[in-house]
Amino acid sequence: MGFFSKLLKKKELPPVDLSALETDLHSHLIPNLDDGVKSVDESLEIIGELHKLGYKRLITTPHTNELYPNTKEQILAGHKTIEQAVNKANIPIELIVSSEYQIDFSFIERIEKDDLITFGDRNLLIELPFMNPPSGLKEVLFELQMARYRLILAHPERYSYYHNDFKFYDDLKNRGIKFQINISSLAGHYSPAAQNVAEKLIKEGMVDFIGSDAHNMNYIEKLKLALTNKHLHALMTSGKLKNKTLIK
Ligand SMILES: [Fe+2]
Repeated sequence: MGFFSKLLKKKELPPVDLSALETDLHSHLIPNLDDGVKSVDESLEIIGELHKLGYKRLITTPHTNELYPNTKEQILAGHKTIEQAVNKANIPIELIVSSEYQIDFSFIERIEKDDLITFGDRNLLIELPFMNPPSGLKEVLFELQMARYRLILAHPERYSYYHNDFKFYDDLKNRGIKFQINISSLAGHYSPAAQNVAEKLIKEGMVDFIGSDAHNMNYIEKLKLALTNKHLHALMTSGKLKNKTLIK
């Protein structure tokens, strides 16, 4: 490494102030529903950290997928438990519940039953399978949009099968799908490739929301590491982020 690049590397940016976001829209803070927190205490610890980071409101999003086929009733009951614990612990933060829905062909049934928990104005957080692109994806997205759901794709940077095909991201954006990247992706939490794609999506102006996707304290530690990332700084001042506008 040359002298000047060493010098540049030393010049660290100050940590980003996340309070401007107001709302986090992606986390796994209800025990016994998915691979997120294991207890109410763990949930409270993370919620306390997110409060300290400046968030005023958390939309927590337990998984709904084949592995965790949660029902609306289970999710709402879990929300009540954590909401009461937050109040008892006097953490001044609003806790809203929704879910992170994995999209596959069987999802059409759920749309027909209208069994989905939205947040704000019919927003829905969706994710794709990690191994392969889902069959019938375009049809399912179309059905959801016809049913007037506003779709937010969770962590587009994590679907490795699209990493070398950026046209896929353009196509989704052209369909009106919003993108939510994970803050910790910028600290390399998942992989160098996911970090690169997250940075590229920021540079291309394609990121609408950023989320914690907090499952446990490790996610909070990684999120903190990302706060000095220059791409996160650029995104925070870009005027593109819409976290604040989700719940009015
Ligand atoms: Fe998630």
